[in-house]
Amino acid sequence: MKKILLPSLILFWAMTGIAIAQTPENLTTAYQQFNAPFTGEWQQYGELFTSLQKNLFPRLFLLVITTVPVFFFLHYIAIGPMSFPHDGKQVYCYNLFVRIIHWVAAVSFSLLVLTGLLIIFAKLIGPGNFGIAARIIHLVSAVIFAISTIPMFLFWIREMLPALYDLQWMMIMGGYLSKKKKPVSAGKFNAGQKMWFWLATVGGGVMAVTGYFLYSHQGDIEILRLSAIIHNFLGSAMVALFITHLYMSLVSIKGSFQSMIHGYKAEAELKILHPKFKY
Ligand code: HEM
Repeated sequence: MKKILLPSLILFWAMTGIAIAQTPENLTTAYQQFNAPFTGEWQQYGELFTSLQKNLFPRLFLLVITTVPVFFFLHYIAIGPMSFPHDGKQVYCYNLFVRIIHWVAAVSFSLLVLTGLLIIFAKLIGPGNFGIAARIIHLVSAVIFAISTIPMFLFWIREMLPALYDLQWMMIMGGYLSKKKKPVSAGKFNAGQKMWFWLATVGGGVMAVTGYFLYSHQGDIEILRLSAIIHNFLGSAMVALFITHLYMSLVSIKGSFQSMIHGYKAEAELKILHPKFKY
């Protein structure tokens, strides 16, 4: 027995010595190969994750904040905004409570988007207080936004439920690709507004949960990676629809912004854009 044990030990030490003498990269690879049958190939997900964080997400956000505004700029040039006479009958659409909640969500979400982009493109601003301030504002705004979406969700959920006629609205893209003012198929809210509502409230909830994991480092590494991936993909979709919401409410439909200030919309506008709305 001794005859076999001693040469085996010497051989084992010699092989270990040779392995250690190799370059660190080779050693790392050998170590990963050795671990793979026991731990699975988790490193490959780590690499995928690092590459997503470093390469894909900054590009995805850059794509969203450049192409979506360009698309709407072209829409503005080709089709232009819609306007309706505002001197006729006015219909009360948004009460004070919902307007306050909306503006709390609007301000906090705008700050979330700005600071979120600063965090994504942190390399450009470099280390320092500015980046830290962005993170603090992101955190505080996230809490305010998450709280504000709860009453917004409860208040609007019934009117935001999908209806069959929403499909017709979607087929013609709400009529936004035409200059003609023909009644479209929509109730108090059209299919586009409903999509934004669901993404902002339910999506906002998912952003809050994944953001909590990222902030608190609760959960294991897999949960953290998954949270970062969901937070970034969902975040980019929310930014795209947020820009759409800004274009629609500030530029595309004249007088829309004022309706969220005093609560009234022109009946002439409702007859074309929301003909199924019973008021
Ligand atoms: C600075 C940012 C924002 C501005 C300027 C803005 C403006 C407006 C305006 C003017 C309206 C009334 C549209 C109409 O009926 O003609 C509106 C509606 C609405 N906003 Fe915002 N909003 C902003 C951010 C947000 C955010 C962050 C949310 C998400 C929580 C949100 C959710 C909604 C919803 C659900 C409606 C009703 C449906 C719709 O018109 O899309 N808004 N917004």
